[in-house]
Amino acid sequence: MALSTSAASTTALKTLLLLLLLCVSAAIYIENDAEELPKSDVDLLEFPLNLEYLEAEFFSWGAFGRGLDRLAPNLAMGGPPPIGAKKARLSPIVKDIIAQFALQEFGHLRAIKKTVPGFPRPLLNLSAASFATIMNNAFGKPLMPPFDPYANDINYLLASYVVPYVGLTGYVGANPKLQSSTAKRLVAGLLGVESGQDAVIRALLYERAMVKVLPYGYTVAEFTNRISMLRNKLGKGGLKDEGLIVKPAQGAEGRIAGNVLAGDKFSLAFDRTPEEILRIVYGSGKENKPGGFYPKGADGKIAKSYLADVVKYRG
Ligand SMILES: *[C@@H]1O[C@H](CO)[C@@H](O)[C@H](O)[C@H]1NC(C)=O
Repeated sequence: MALSTSAASTTALKTLLLLLLLCVSAAIYIENDAEELPKSDVDLLEFPLNLEYLEAEFFSWGAFGRGLDRLAPNLAMGGPPPIGAKKARLSPIVKDIIAQFALQEFGHLRAIKKTVPGFPRPLLNLSAASFATIMNNAFGKPLMPPFDPYANDINYLLASYVVPYVGLTGYVGANPKLQSSTAKRLVAGLLGVESGQDAVIRALLYERAMVKVLPYGYTVAEFTNRISMLRNKLGKGGLKDEGLIVKPAQGAEGRIAGNVLAGDKFSLAFDRTPEEILRIVYGSGKENKPGGFYPKGADGKIAKSYLADVVKYRG
């Protein structure tokens, strides 16, 4: 009787020890999994958070009239609320699509932060004036009245043309620099959906390519060409951006004018470096001169390394 009790308790003890060992090794394994990411992968994965925050807020405000602070407060990590974002006047179908984009962006923020520490939402200038400035620069003169991204479907889609595409060129550019399979898997997943969003926006605009944007008298196609040319100019990386209608030599196989998707001579997506992206989203053409959508600059090690340069020069 005494013997069997002690045998039973030994077995129980052994089982307990085994369980404990399993738990500890599982914990070590999980921890290692996160720690195994090379530092350069962490930086390259954190950089796009800047754009994902912008898209999340712009789409969420546009469709729902509220942003991360109301709908997913944890994701903002205490960063300041965006300036001037508001609900757009959208038709039911466009609103439905933008609502989906907004929630997709929330997912992207979660996915990135599950993999790397991340940083709080940077200050974003999503005011109508911020978009109006881009359009004025694209046309090389002030549009009158100032362009309002929140006014209607076409304006909102044109404003949306400005953003996800820049993110997607960034993912294409980041991919060959990544070392870990975890980071590559994440970037492929983000790239797939970002380019899907860009394709939807472009297709909706393409349907209206010859429609004049009121009251300016320029067509939708012309707006996209101007915005793309501005991005090429600001990015200083050559031709990496194309509007909806191009010279046939610039289209797929060098023989078609319709350009519902942008791509190089092999119809492969263009790539951009973080520096090129910062020059564009700051609107300044300089990776160390914040402005545009990011009045105080973007966050993360890569963007901050350029801001630090400026401080050093000033000091
Ligand atoms: C937001 O952008 C507009 C247009 O460039 C500018 O006039 C305004 O001062 C900006 N707001 C902030 C807080 O930077």
